[in-house]
Amino acid sequence: MSVNLKFGDEEHRGVIAEGTYLWDAAKRLGVHLPAECNGRGECDTCAVVVEEGMTLLSSLTEAERTRLSPERLAAGERLACQTKIERGGDLSVRPVPRTERNETADEAVRDFRREFREMPLGRKMAALAEFEAVTAYQTLNAVMSVPGMIGGKILDLMAGRGRAMSERERAARRPSEHRKT
Ligand code: FES
Repeated sequence: MSVNLKFGDEEHRGVIAEGTYLWDAAKRLGVHLPAECNGRGECDTCAVVVEEGMTLLSSLTEAERTRLSPERLAAGERLACQTKIERGGDLSVRPVPRTERNETADEAVRDFRREFREMPLGRKMAALAEFEAVTAYQTLNAVMSVPGMIGGKILDLMAGRGRAMSERERAARRPSEHRKT
């Protein structure tokens, strides 16, 4: 039996096979869910609210109990990378708004870039002094008028890991509760 899934709005609606994780289903329907820990169950950035069809989903994993508070669980939140669609039927979920979850490193960098651009020079200097990882040469260049460089450096430092992954790597990251013995 297939699953009729609505992900957020009417634009993102489709039929998904049973056994699909909500995270993969989101991608198939063209929904970009942030995934700071790359699907390891170590953050909450992929959190979604289940509006209809909770009984179609796998049981809560240990990672979900750890990352989501009792209040969030009671409100119907699940971690998309940890939640498998196990039964067919109608399912409706929506991503948790950014203001209600932790921000990703990429989001933090984007925010910082915007903030930095708008800072007066004195505050820019003070902010630069806080970046221990940035060398004096790079800092000087940035202060001299290349603020984009700073954001780029931070981006490299904070989010410098690849997103590509093989099917085997993905399987290895699945919740231990879902692995075959
Ligand atoms: S991507 Fe981190 S818990 Fe799902």
